[in-house]
Amino acid sequence: HSAILTIDPAFRIAEVPPRLFGSFVEHLGRCVYTGIFEPSHPSADDDGFRTDVLDLTRELGVSVVRYPGGNFVSGYRWEDGVGPREARPQRLDPAWRSTETNAFGLGEFAAWSRQAGIEPMMALNLGTRGIQDACDLLEYCNHPGGTYWSDMRAAHGHAKPFDVRLWCLGNEMDGPWQIGHKTAAEYGRLAGETGRAMRMIDPSLELVACGSSHSGMPTFGEWEATVLEEAYDQVDYISLHAYYHLQDGDLASFLASAVDMEAFIDDVVSTADHVRAKRRAAKRINLSFDEWNVWDQTDWREQGPPDDWPEAPPLIEDTYTVADAVVVGSLLIALLRHCDRVTVACLAQLVNAIAPIRTEPGGPAWRQASFHPFALTARLARGRVLRVDPVAPVMATARYGDVPAVHAVATYDDDSGDVAIFAVNRNPAEPVELTVRHDAFARHRITEHTVLSGDDLAATNSSTNPDRVIPVSVPVDTSGHGSARAYLKPASWNVIRLT
Ligand code: AHR
Repeated sequence: HSAILTIDPAFRIAEVPPRLFGSFVEHLGRCVYTGIFEPSHPSADDDGFRTDVLDLTRELGVSVVRYPGGNFVSGYRWEDGVGPREARPQRLDPAWRSTETNAFGLGEFAAWSRQAGIEPMMALNLGTRGIQDACDLLEYCNHPGGTYWSDMRAAHGHAKPFDVRLWCLGNEMDGPWQIGHKTAAEYGRLAGETGRAMRMIDPSLELVACGSSHSGMPTFGEWEATVLEEAYDQVDYISLHAYYHLQDGDLASFLASAVDMEAFIDDVVSTADHVRAKRRAAKRINLSFDEWNVWDQTDWREQGPPDDWPEAPPLIEDTYTVADAVVVGSLLIALLRHCDRVTVACLAQLVNAIAPIRTEPGGPAWRQASFHPFALTARLARGRVLRVDPVAPVMATARYGDVPAVHAVATYDDDSGDVAIFAVNRNPAEPVELTVRHDAFARHRITEHTVLSGDDLAATNSSTNPDRVIPVSVPVDTSGHGSARAYLKPASWNVIRLT
């Protein structure tokens, strides 16, 4: 099996949007408590933040973090999580049937964001709350001072505003599981009016309207069109969420999950542009893929949520395999291939709950297999994204029909001159001999080929064996002029660097 891929700086899609490498911290299970925040942990700093997790977050290369949910946010009162900790109420969190202590809240998240070097992306409760609450929260977060809420923030020890630019107008409001679930028309109107009021306070905010919870929702397509018809002028983004997992042992379809993600993106772009055409609007709505990952929801669906309202229970702590990590790498390739319109994306989530980082309470933190393709892509995808469209063998899949076995994208950094090719061989059984044609970069040579794969695609990392799955460097063929060769193992994620 052989494939050919041509790289040329002229095949530009867009510059790499820094917000493409976002993640997500929800009050869910152990993402916050014993994840990013654990005052009694040996590594905790004065704020109670686990510095081992902070270090891994920086290493992961995360740029923006969505907070505080997720399903959680649709029943959340943000005021519960500010001010003196001893006065904060314990509440039921109906979304995850857990007890929320509110020991961690808005001020802690703002402080943690600064330490982690990330931009906060704030989600609003449009499930049980509405316009007034959104404006109050905005005033608390961003107003310099001299008003009720901004002075309260200062009194809580945060004199400087948090200056949150990016806001989600609710979460998955199309989903019947969502607290305060709405029809598209109800939600679109509420999102539009909430956005309008928020922009009366600060016209420069960037606002995300909820799109569909996944492309299989019965209302998909119609939902986006209706919401944007109501809220087009008030929002900048429409959101997408998608989770994939290995079903019935069908590895080929699972490895081709990015086919679905790319079709989903194309459909949302078309729907947003259809509304634009009807309105004769100059503005284009971009896409915020603010929840994506591999997540096997079978256990969650079968077992259901806890019934004894525990505090920070271990929920949806998926352990990621080599195959999962290859899919995560491929989903990142899909996002890069569409980064002219997808300019925000969040890997859901950051720690413990379906996350690249895992921790033990009081114990170690470690990198899951999926950590690696994310960290390497965030580090090496620099400059402009180049379309490569490989000529590759076709692979049959049960779910998506015939798909190209090689899924790829490249980036070119004008400043350093570095080229990085990100390529997945989706074929679980056959290797691919890849020829890289780089006449337009004739002086470049392959200097590095890093692979994430393995003979055991079910291998995982754990607290006792945290580096069982890691990317490895393989020998490179440096002889060619304007052309180079790379061997792509079956079911592998690869990054090939030319300098
Ligand atoms: O990320 C886990 C959950 O998945 C989120 O809370 C929700 O928005 C989505 O359904």
